[in-house]
Amino acid sequence: MYQSDVLVIGSGIAGGITALQLADAGLEVLLVTRSKDPTDSNTYYAQGGIIYKGKSDSPKLLTKDIILAGANLNNEKSAYILAKEGPKLIEDILIKRLNTSFDRDENGQLSLSLEGGHSISRIIHSKDATGKAIEISLINVLKKHPNVKILQNHTAIDLLTMSHHSKDKKKVYLEEECCGAYIFDNETKKVLHAIAKRTVLATGGIGQIFLRTTNPKGARGDGLAMASRARTRIINAEYIQFHPTTFYKEYGPLFLISEAVRGAGGKLVNKNGATFMEKYSPEWKDLATRDIVARSILNEMLTKSLSNVYINIYSYLSKNKIKKLFPNIYRKCLENGVDITQDLIPIVPSAHYFCGGVWTDEWGKTTIRNLYAVGEVACNGLHGANRLASASLLEGLVWGIRAAKDILNNITNLFQFNKRDILPWIDTGIEDPDPALIQQDMNVIKHIMWNYVGLIRSTKRLDRAIRELRNLEIEIEHFYRISRITDSLIGLRNSVQSALIITTAAWKNHNSCGCHYREL
Ligand code: FAD
Ligand code: SIN
Repeated sequence: MYQSDVLVIGSGIAGGITALQLADAGLEVLLVTRSKDPTDSNTYYAQGGIIYKGKSDSPKLLTKDIILAGANLNNEKSAYILAKEGPKLIEDILIKRLNTSFDRDENGQLSLSLEGGHSISRIIHSKDATGKAIEISLINVLKKHPNVKILQNHTAIDLLTMSHHSKDKKKVYLEEECCGAYIFDNETKKVLHAIAKRTVLATGGIGQIFLRTTNPKGARGDGLAMASRARTRIINAEYIQFHPTTFYKEYGPLFLISEAVRGAGGKLVNKNGATFMEKYSPEWKDLATRDIVARSILNEMLTKSLSNVYINIYSYLSKNKIKKLFPNIYRKCLENGVDITQDLIPIVPSAHYFCGGVWTDEWGKTTIRNLYAVGEVACNGLHGANRLASASLLEGLVWGIRAAKDILNNITNLFQFNKRDILPWIDTGIEDPDPALIQQDMNVIKHIMWNYVGLIRSTKRLDRAIRELRNLEIEIEHFYRISRITDSLIGLRNSVQSALIITTAAWKNHNSCGCHYREL
């Protein structure tokens, strides 16, 4: 059993920053992550950068760009908060407190790049591995912090709420409140109670429920499903952002080709080298927002029966510049037989970012008392129907700090909850789950989501997806009950539940908007 002032689930930028701010203010924080290495997260893989401020920038101009990208479905207040508070937090927290190193120009000024949907250059970066630079500096500081205990290789199973998990059945009459989580220790295979005055959900995204994704293995919707089982409000779940440009190789690995490559001049072309984005977005061309670029690429592929299209960067940047700006992309492509200083880069779109999530107010509070959500798992309306490039690392930073501030303003010394009041974990499993069944079920979910709930949706496809996912959910729930618990089994159950949440939201919404596109 663990007892702390605050339980933070997830050690990416959002959870890590929340933990840091709370710990700096003197609270005891338990930071839990399912991965063995606490840096392993979507944050670690972020490439292009984080929004800072451009030369002639203003909060008003950035807010305008966020709302244009979000198809005007954004919560304007959230967009303005990000634009107003973001740059100072980058200076105070990332640069001064964490010492994260960002690229600078010959005058020592932060070097600014451009990405799709931005009206000016305002993104700072650490080569093409910005997330890695941020995440390593963050975890290094947290590891040494006396007020933070990091529990790695521990998977949160369920949020503890008084109406679901109290031994006192009369708690059901009170306002719903969260008092921690059941946590699975992947080494000892035991389930622990982590009891806390406040709980922060920072479990990231859902990309892995799609066949093709830029996201690493852990992005399987754990937080979304846990929050849904706890009955929090979930919004905008149909808005899945597909990144237009992921490296394509039949049976090869998928990895992101940063939008910064197009920001630096790269152009989308077909196999003959002809550009096509001017047909789809005469004004923005290759730097239109991601929803437009991804659908344009799909249209090119479908109408011309192509397996992929390409980016040409070598005609627009010198060899040296390519290698200097994009050393990791250059190396990874080379390992896969493509020299981007002289070859076209084969690409396809793939699932990238969850714009919806657990509803929160402007301080990260959810509809359950004492439960906060921050980062990609949360939705305060910032992104509307489609996220502006490089806005999500900043979102994690801004709302990590905001949630921590709100907690600090409201927390008391008193421990209201005790393990004795909470129902014990009951393991109903009688046998180890067969990994082949888990893998097969996971593959089915990924194919359903890719084929029926992908870039272009229709009633027929969504109907079919719901029916198949419901059947699968019944099967998986049975499998979950009769098997001994494992991290993969927890993930499988969360994946099918997240897939259903997303598909149902997509089915209900007949209006195409941003990255939710309905044919019929
Ligand atoms: P994450 O960083 O994903 O962290 C989630 C944490 O939760 C992890 O520690 C994970 O282990 C943990 N976790 C999950 N489930 C459980 C569980 N059940 N129990 C315990 N722990 C759990 N955004 C930008 O702004 N700029 C970019 O350049 C950029 N590039 C990107 C490139 C790639 C390839 C990808 C995949 C994303 C990119 N993004 C970028 C998006 C951005 O990285 C993410 O949206 C952001 O990092 C999310 O941060 P987070 O803290 O919310 O979640
Ligand atoms: C990229 O580098 O293209 C990813 C940026 C983002 O997802 O914001």
